Amino acid sequence: KTPIAILISGRGSNMLALMEACARPDFPAKIVLVLSNKADAAGLDTARKAGIKTLCIPHKDYGKGREAHERAIDEAVRASGAELICLAGYMRVLTPWLVQQWQGRMINIHPSLLPAFPGLHTHEAALKAGAKEHGCTIHLVTDGVDEGPILAQARVPVLPHDDADALAARVLEQEHRLYPETLKHFITQRHT
Ligand code: GAR
Repeated sequence: KTPIAILISGRGSNMLALMEACARPDFPAKIVLVLSNKADAAGLDTARKAGIKTLCIPHKDYGKGREAHERAIDEAVRASGAELICLAGYMRVLTPWLVQQWQGRMINIHPSLLPAFPGLHTHEAALKAGAKEHGCTIHLVTDGVDEGPILAQARVPVLPHDDADALAARVLEQEHRLYPETLKHFITQRHT
């Protein structure tokens, strides 16, 4: 199994979907580290309770030193033996330095059909734009925020009476399915 690290900032429901997938004997990845930039991220508890190694490296401890923060993250991930990084609701924009270190080996999930609606508040933006379809994207991380090569997307309809929460829930269900599936394909293709 390929060792992976997951970076989170909050709830960790995508992390949990990856945890459940990794628990299956035929899944090609194992989680060696869950790392958060926020001490109160609920996902840290979820991972810890499942016996997964967790670490919190608060960006607040580094003030304006974005790269110093990321050097600490990079060091921790390398020490864990991880070969891939999965961003799962990691809510900080990465510096080109960290992106470069993990080029081709760092994956992100984003809650929109990129290139539509990069950045934050994607469900509100989709509703406001009158989008008929919405969804989520798994992509490789490059310097441009939410711009890397797309690995997979899942689509959902936008329904007439949707609010942002209803739409987010419909998308999230697809995220939980798409992330493990795409990671599996990505790893399998890498090794063939
Ligand atoms: C997910 O919807 C994920 O796609 C999004 O944050 C949520 C995290 O939920 N990520 C981004 O917006 C990245 N910029 P989770 O912590 O329950 O997985």
